[in-house]
This record gives sequence, C-alpha cells and structure tokens, in this order.
Amino acid sequence: MSSAIGIDDLAFATGSFRIDLAVLAERLGADPAKYYRGLGQSEMSVVAEDEDVVTLGAAAAQQILARGGADGVRTLMFATETGIDQSKSAGVYVHRLLGLGPNVRVVELKQACYSATAAMQFAAALVARDPSEKVLVIASDIARYELDTAAEPTQGAGAVAFTVTANPALLELEPANGVYTEDVMDFWRPNHSTTAIVDGKTSITAYLDAVAGAFDDYLTRGGAPFHAIDWFCYHQPFTKMAVKAHRHLADRAGSASDPAAVAARIEPTTGYNRRIGNSYTASVYLALLALLDGDEDLAGKRVAIASYGSGAVAEFLTGTVPANYRTALRAAENERRLADRVPVDDATYLALQHAARRRDPSNYETARQTPAPFRFGGVRDDQRIYEPTV
Ligand code: CAA
Repeated sequence: MSSAIGIDDLAFATGSFRIDLAVLAERLGADPAKYYRGLGQSEMSVVAEDEDVVTLGAAAAQQILARGGADGVRTLMFATETGIDQSKSAGVYVHRLLGLGPNVRVVELKQACYSATAAMQFAAALVARDPSEKVLVIASDIARYELDTAAEPTQGAGAVAFTVTANPALLELEPANGVYTEDVMDFWRPNHSTTAIVDGKTSITAYLDAVAGAFDDYLTRGGAPFHAIDWFCYHQPFTKMAVKAHRHLADRAGSASDPAAVAARIEPTTGYNRRIGNSYTASVYLALLALLDGDEDLAGKRVAIASYGSGAVAEFLTGTVPANYRTALRAAENERRLADRVPVDDATYLALQHAARRRDPSNYETARQTPAPFRFGGVRDDQRIYEPTV
C-alpha cells in the first residue's frame, strides 16, 4: 500500500432532548448511583418527534461536507439497526438532503452495532483501489427498549459521519484486523417490533467472548500485543461495559491491573457516550471522537477500535494518530452540541416514547420540534417525508 488510509474527518449529531438518568431512576425505583456509577451513564439523548436516523445522519454528515466538500465522494454507506424501510436505504434520503450528485453509490449495512466498522473496512478497500476516492460513512441509531425494564436506562440516540480517505488526518488504519462471528440470541429486533428484545446477562457474556475472539484473531494476523496499544475504544452500550471489556482483555493478556486503574484508562473514551447513551453503530466511533477531542496528546499513538454487534459479530483493529490531528477536530462545537440539548421531564419523555404507537403508520404528520438542519415530516401514503428546517 503506497499511502496510509483511514479516517479523515469525524462528526456527530444527536437528539434535541436529553433526560437525566436520575429522573428515570425515580420512576423505576432505582438508586441513581446504579446508573451513574453502576452503568457509567449520566443521561441519554431523546429524539424529537421529527427526528430519526436519517435526520441525525444527515446532520452529522453535513458538518463534514461543509468543511471538506463532496469532491471525490462516490460512495455513501449508511450503517444502522434502526431500519426505516425493509428495502430502500436510509442513505438515499440523506443523499438528497445533502445535495450529493447522481454519480454516488448508496447502500445500507446491517449487523446490529457492528456494521459501521464493516463499512469502514469496505471503504478502505475502495480507497486502496483508487486513492482519489473519499468514502462517506454514516452510522445512525436510536436505541429503544421496552419501558419499565432493566434495559430502559441504556437507551440513547446518535449518529456519526466520517470520511475514509488516503492520507487521513485523524486515524491511519494498520493492516492487521481480527474478526469473530457466532450465532447468539443475546439481542435482536423482530420486523414487527419497534423495540429490541434483549437478554441482558447473555449479551454481556456474548460481548466479552466476541471481543476476546476478535482480539485473538487480530494477534494471529500480526497485530500489536496488548501492551503495545496505547488507547482502547470499545463499543459502549453503557460506558461501564468498556471497563468490563478492557479488564477482560487485560486479564487474558496477563497485564491485570486494579479496577480503578482500568476505569481511569478507559475514562477519556467515555465522555460522549456517558451523556448520549447507546447509539448502537455510532457508539464506538463516539468513543474514538471523545478520545480525540480530549486532553491526551495522541500524536503517534496506537489506538484500538473494538467493535461489537449483538447476534454476534466483533472486530478488533488498530490505527495510529497523525501528528497534526488536532487541526481536524471540532471539540468546542461538539461540546456545544451536547449542551444545547433541552432537558425533558419524565412525562415529556414518555409522551415522545409513546408517540409512534398512537399513529396510523401509513399516514401521519410530526410536530415541528427539532432545531436541527433537517426534519422528518411524517408519512404520507406510506412515503416518508424529509425536509430542511430552514
Ligand atoms: N450503586 C452503584 N452501583 C450499583 C448500584 C448502586 N446503588 N446498584 C447496582 N449497581 C451496579 C451493579 O453492581 C452492576 O455493576 P457490575 O456489572 O459492575 O457488577 C451495575 O450497577 C448494573 O447492575 P445490574 O447488573 O443489577 O443491572 P441490571 O440487571 O438492572 O441491568 C443491563 C443491566 C443488563 C446492562 C441492562 O441495562 C440491559 O439489559 N441493557 C441492554 C443490554 C446491553 O446493553 N447489553 C450490553 C452488551 S450487548 C451490546 O453491547 C450490544 C448493544 O449495544 C445492545
């Protein structure tokens, strides 16, 4: 390979509202400390009636195109497990909202929370074939479980968009990667259901087994040993899960350290997910973005991405951070994006959660709520309506 390939720009968008998990704890009769410390989550994003995975994904990608333009973009991959249609890719709506030209291929990828990492690898292969190409990857999800269940505090909503290019500004992918697949029923969402079905305890074991299996495969493919990796970004259904995963890999690598030291090591990757909640496909890239936006000097450091999607597929890969990466960040804007979310009380949150169930799915209008650049207007004769808000 003549030049490095990897992530050149990375941006996120999230729901317009947020709910503090102490509010949920009160209804569910739990100690807030169980969520704050036990799960490592402080709040979660909640989408407005007129937001969905298309509007979130378009809002994330718009930031990237506003800075870098669309020249060279010939592929848009949309990773999600919050499918809005059984046939048409959510990415085609985004393609129109962003004003991309006709000579762009668009496709949707699905394997629970994993598929954005598959998209990144497929994108890298396209760029290896033609280094002038820039592939736009969008990962967008809204995590919904049944209300009044143990899974409810692990909901959330968010999207990332990133470009994969030659000579990337943020992360140069290393060639070694490890993959692992096993048919497990830990978490799934049948076609008739708007909420996922989950076996919480099984899902945690399945996650740990799959990430360990992917890491073992990474090592057999010439990957760096555990101690030669500076930072680890794990999929974060709740941020404590990353701590569990890191302890699991550290124990197996024989570099066990005390729990507080492991938690401190993972902490710089958790800042966004702790406040956004689970964003499924976007989550591991929000962990990477939090690390990049944070105080650590990452220039020249090796960073791992440990991606997990229930059902189950995992991938473990590494990349190195280029010297001038900070010039490609937008940390202050990202902080503002989180701070601007409007806090909601439990009644408002419940009304938003229940809104979809009261409607005729073939015909409905949504209330104008989002201040984001694009909105979902509803469904008319089974066709979804998307429009700019300005
Ligand atoms: N103060 C501090 N900590 C407390 C506490 C208190 N008062 N009370 C409990 N805790 C701790 C517990 O000790 C526990 O910590 P450890 O796991 O470190 O022991 C933690 O809080 C959670 O407590 P429980 O295990 O009792 O929690 P629970 O059974 O009510 O539910 C859950 C936890 C299973 C994760 C549930 O939220 C769930 O099902 N979530 C959805 C599934 C999920 O996220 N799975 C993750 C792996 S699958 C995946 O990654 C794919 C994906 O995105 C879904």
